[in-house]
Formats: sequence, structure tokens, C-alpha cells
Amino acid sequence: MTTRRKKIYEGKAKILYEGPEPGTLIQYFKDDATAFNDQKKAILEGKGVINNRISEYVMIKLNSIGVQNHLIRRLNLREQLIREVEIIPLEVVCRNVAAGSLSQRFGLPEGQALPRSVIEFYLKDDKLNNPMVAEEHITAFNWASTQEIDDMMALTLRVNDFLTGLFAGVGITLVDFKVEFGRLYENDFARVILADEISPDSCRLWDTQTNEKLDKDRFRRDMGDVIEGYTEVARRLGIMKEMPTVIQGGLH
Ligand code: TMP
Ligand code: ASP
Repeated sequence: MTTRRKKIYEGKAKILYEGPEPGTLIQYFKDDATAFNDQKKAILEGKGVINNRISEYVMIKLNSIGVQNHLIRRLNLREQLIREVEIIPLEVVCRNVAAGSLSQRFGLPEGQALPRSVIEFYLKDDKLNNPMVAEEHITAFNWASTQEIDDMMALTLRVNDFLTGLFAGVGITLVDFKVEFGRLYENDFARVILADEISPDSCRLWDTQTNEKLDKDRFRRDMGDVIEGYTEVARRLGIMKEMPTVIQGGLH
């Protein structure tokens, strides 16, 4: 179905193909899971289908509150039609609760609430292992302008506020997440919009009652039942019923 299209870019979890019209692309969600910059790999059957649907659900909701993003519409189980943007080479992480690399860096116990939401920037460069960068580096090396940094921070906080509430409503704590942004060119003006995906691959999602992890940490930390965690997120969001029977039945 997708082979005849021109491949534009292949990442670890997604492929971008040429879209049907100029200014559009097709984003294909693979079942590949990687962690620690590709050192750990697996195929998690059905992951791409679930992430495609969860990310579509989240992006539509964000668009409805005025957070513009690249999604035009989901095409099928694994593909979305998206707007072509110039990806800003930064991973923007927002944290509400200490976990992962923040806990390691500052010796904070996982699960400790942070005094306020914290935003961090990482350079999107696998060869350098995505190093954390300061605003000074971002502007000095021209990865983004001061205005773009302000825009990304404001958008990330809106995403955080909205998603914190959305997940809280279904008994899930949004511990942290990573987003990426792109420039959408309109005449001579470039606007920063949300791109990439928002899914259990890019968020830490814990059951609020039990702190059970429902996200990619199940894979990173060899906890097992990775797809079951992702499926539980989809089920709580109310989008599991429409999944193909093969996924509803449970894949391992
Ligand atoms: P970290 O604690 O490992 O820095 O991760 C923070 C958040 O960012 C967590 O929700 C997972 C997400 N993340 C990605 O989506 N991609 C990555 O490459 C990394 C390192 C983290
Ligand atoms: N996505 C990164 C990788 O592939 C890291 C991670 O999510 O833990 O290695």
C-alpha cells in the first residue's frame, strides 16, 4: 500500500512518505520500539496502530483548543496525512513529576512531584545521543530563534495543561512527555506548530491510583506487557472499541 510512494525520511518508529499534494506528507507508524538511542530494539506487534490512533485523538483535541499541529487526518490504521513542516532539531521535554533522566541527573526519587512544571531542550541528534542544551546554545547555533523558543515553551505548557487534565479524567498521571515542533511557511512567515506524535512512546503515563506504568518505560525497563500498557491507555481514552479485533484480542 505504501511501497509505491517516495520515502522522504525513516526514523526509529515512523516513516515519512511523499504526500498526495505539495506541502503534505504521509506519516506511517511502525511497530519498531527502540530505547537508549537504538541500543535496545524490538518489534511490538500492533504498537504502530495504537500510537497512530492515540496520537490522532490527542492532536485533534489539541487543535480544538487552538494548539495548531501538523495532523490533517488519519488515513488508515497506520498512516496519517500531515502538513509538511521544517522540523526544528530539538526535543522539548516537559515534566510534572520526577522520573527518568531528571531523577538520575539530580538524584530525585521517581514519583516526587516537581515544584512546578519544568521544560527542557535536547538536541535532536542521535549521533550525539541527544544532549541536553541550554537556550544559549539554541540561539548561538541557530537551531531556533528566541521568539521560536518562547513559542515552543508557551505551546508546550498549553499541551501540558490540557493533557494533564485529559489524562487525570481517566485516572492517569501525566508524569512527563516529549514533543517536537516544525516551521510552517506561509508566504515569507514561518509559524511554529506541533509535529511528530504524542503517544505512550513519548509520554510517561502512570495509573494515578497504583503508579503502574502504562508507557514505554515497560519496554525500556524490561517490565513486560508493553502493548497491554498502551492498550490500557487507549481503552481509558475510549478509543479501544474501534480497534481491529486482532488488537482488541491482545497481542504480545
Ligand atoms: P527522559 O527522562 O529519559 O529524559 O525522558 C523524558 C520524556 O521524554 C519521557 O516521557 C520519554 C520522552 N522521550 C522521548 O520521547 N524520546 C527520547 O528519545 C527520550 C530520551 C525521551
Ligand atoms: N527514542 C529513543 C531511542 O530510540 C530513546 C527512548 O525513547 O528511550 O533510543
